[in-house]
Amino acid sequence: MEVGIPKETKDQEFRVGLSPNSARALCEAGHHVFVETGAGNGAGFTDEDYRQVGTQIVTQAAEAWNRELVVKVKEPLKSEYQFLEKGQILFTYLHLAANRFLTEHLIDCGASAIAYETVELPDHKLPLLTPMSIIAGRLSIQFGARFLERQQGGRGVLLGGVPGVRPGCVVILGGGVVGTEAAQIAVGMGARVQIIDINVERLTYLETLFGSRVELLYSNFAQIEAAVKDADLLVGAVLIPGYRAPILVPRSLVQQMRPGSVIVDVAVDQGGCVETLRTTSHSHPIYIEEDIVHYGVPNMPGAVPWTATQALNNSTLPYVLKLANQGMKALDSNPALAKGLNVQNYQLIHPAVQEVFPDLIS
Ligand SMILES: NC(=O)c1ccc[n+]([C@@H]2O[C@H](COP(=O)([O-])OP(=O)(O)OC[C@H]3O[C@@H](n4cnc5c(N)ncnc54)[C@H](O)[C@@H]3O)[C@@H](O)[C@H]2O)c1
Repeated sequence: MEVGIPKETKDQEFRVGLSPNSARALCEAGHHVFVETGAGNGAGFTDEDYRQVGTQIVTQAAEAWNRELVVKVKEPLKSEYQFLEKGQILFTYLHLAANRFLTEHLIDCGASAIAYETVELPDHKLPLLTPMSIIAGRLSIQFGARFLERQQGGRGVLLGGVPGVRPGCVVILGGGVVGTEAAQIAVGMGARVQIIDINVERLTYLETLFGSRVELLYSNFAQIEAAVKDADLLVGAVLIPGYRAPILVPRSLVQQMRPGSVIVDVAVDQGGCVETLRTTSHSHPIYIEEDIVHYGVPNMPGAVPWTATQALNNSTLPYVLKLANQGMKALDSNPALAKGLNVQNYQLIHPAVQEVFPDLIS
């Protein structure tokens, strides 16, 4: 099969759909891979790296797009809609429930669109979302520690403290993938750490992981209120799949935090769980409101494209190979991949997206 790898066009998006190692696996399986020139530059992969593994470098976006299977990272932008066509398989993050315009266009163009974020295993795990949650969780502490620095607007707290001075306090709302990874890093830095989750089973699991090193609390407003007031760094990491994140921290509680404390709301892509949090970008990641530093970048892994591209590829490659080998027939023998199907043959397929746009069902 012919597989195309276009260069990402979204602002500050440096990841690429296939790393040279993944491209090599496809070439070795007998497929022809067409990579747009410079597609891997932002992630640290040169055209020469791709040439050496047997791919063809093409100079125009259309030459990468005009293939049976197109593998990307982010959803197509308006300037790319012209490249979508009937018979083509598009495999990428789509987040259609938040993008009616793109949903309509995908239905109209006749392509088959499979979304990374809805590929789902029988135990309901989302294998192509998890690697990005791991990265975002780890980054939340890295960024939080940086923005606690005085020069960045923070209150000048070193998370790990020093002998004789108390370490900083990290409060994490939601102990799923993001929250657990955030806690790992915060513990490693020597901070005091609390995780608040609503799922008792999850809290029990976290106890086996962290023992008494992390304080594990059940989520209700009294616990949240007491913890947040004392937080130097608050990390938002809750998720109710398919829904907007619940607002767990109202403005009145943000006003009670110590000036210069930092909020990193990783759940911003689902609306955020802190009332005062607005979406920010890698170019302008923070703003100060109620004397608190707010960080709300929805594509945090884009900050570490070398790591993120490889982590994403480790999970996507088995599915990419199946699609290249069998085309859409791959979905018949792979229920997890079939759950990823959002649009096919001029029809909206995914039930959750259908629920959001019932008028687009035909
Ligand atoms: N900003 C980014 O770049 C980025 C990257 C990856 C993931 N995310 C987002 O981070 C969020 C978390 O993702 P995840 O993979 O950790 O999800 P997850 O499902 O693994 O974990 C979510 C946790 O939130 C808990 N929760 C739900 N309601 C709660 C409540 N009221 N109080 C306390 N806890 C509650 C759940 O029990 C669960 O343990 C999602 O919105 C995800 O889309 C953002």
